[in-house]
Amino acid sequence: MKKFITVIMAAALCVSALTACGSKADPAATASDAGQAEEGAAAGEAGDGAEVSEALADGVLNVGTNAEFPPFEYVNDSGEPDGFDVALIKAIGEKLGVEVVVDNMEFASLVSSIGSKIDVAIAGMTITEDRQKTVDFSNPYYEAVQYVILPAGSEIAAAEDLKGKSIGVQLGTTGDFIAEEIEGAAVSQYNKGVDAVNDLINGRVDCVILDKNPALVFESKFSGKITAVDGAQFDFGKEEYAIAMPKGDAVLAGQINAALQELMADGSFDKLVEQYIEQIEE
Ligand code: ARG
Repeated sequence: MKKFITVIMAAALCVSALTACGSKADPAATASDAGQAEEGAAAGEAGDGAEVSEALADGVLNVGTNAEFPPFEYVNDSGEPDGFDVALIKAIGEKLGVEVVVDNMEFASLVSSIGSKIDVAIAGMTITEDRQKTVDFSNPYYEAVQYVILPAGSEIAAAEDLKGKSIGVQLGTTGDFIAEEIEGAAVSQYNKGVDAVNDLINGRVDCVILDKNPALVFESKFSGKITAVDGAQFDFGKEEYAIAMPKGDAVLAGQINAALQELMADGSFDKLVEQYIEQIEE
């Protein structure tokens, strides 16, 4: 239904701003659309240019996240999704002049919900080739790496030691994909990272593979019981977080990247990093 309304509104927009539409049906025009959007960003026009993605024509940016990933997203004391990503996407929405509505859902359903249930997803989501088959990503906004969370006193210290171990992960995450490649490993998938950590503390798994910043949050939350070890020590590579968007919507990508770029240029992005991330770093 929302989709239907969106289409009508987009059609209405076509009438009032012919330039905004024609290109949509013409794949050849897509590249130049993106170029135009970038020029808009350079000129500081994000949000007030003529080109508005159909996805935003209803004035609402529907955002999916999985609020089980502090400090990027968690449920705050008032029961609302909060955290770095939530603040970032709200700031982007403000730049674009749209209302941001955040839907807290399972991480594993985010990608497939983009373009139907939600417009975009922000969830500390790593750019992967596999996901790129289904969605487009914004410019990256944060660098990450997987960490290995161990019970205090564990002897696991290198890639070799992970072989044949029982490993807890959050379902459908890059930690999950890495664990599944480890020889002889028995992988336990949880809907929430914290459930994996609780099973680690209870001795049900030998380690948990989870992104750096959430791993550090859990390490301080369960202080003395677990240690979070840099995945570089286990040969895990660098990852980049980006906003996942519908495939092929170059106008939306242009708008979101322009807003992101403005927030990075005017210092707002760094303020959010300080406020949400650096506070809890070692
Ligand atoms: N960076 C990892 C990935 O993209 C984990 C993200 C989990 N995010 C979350 N909000 N639960 O797979």
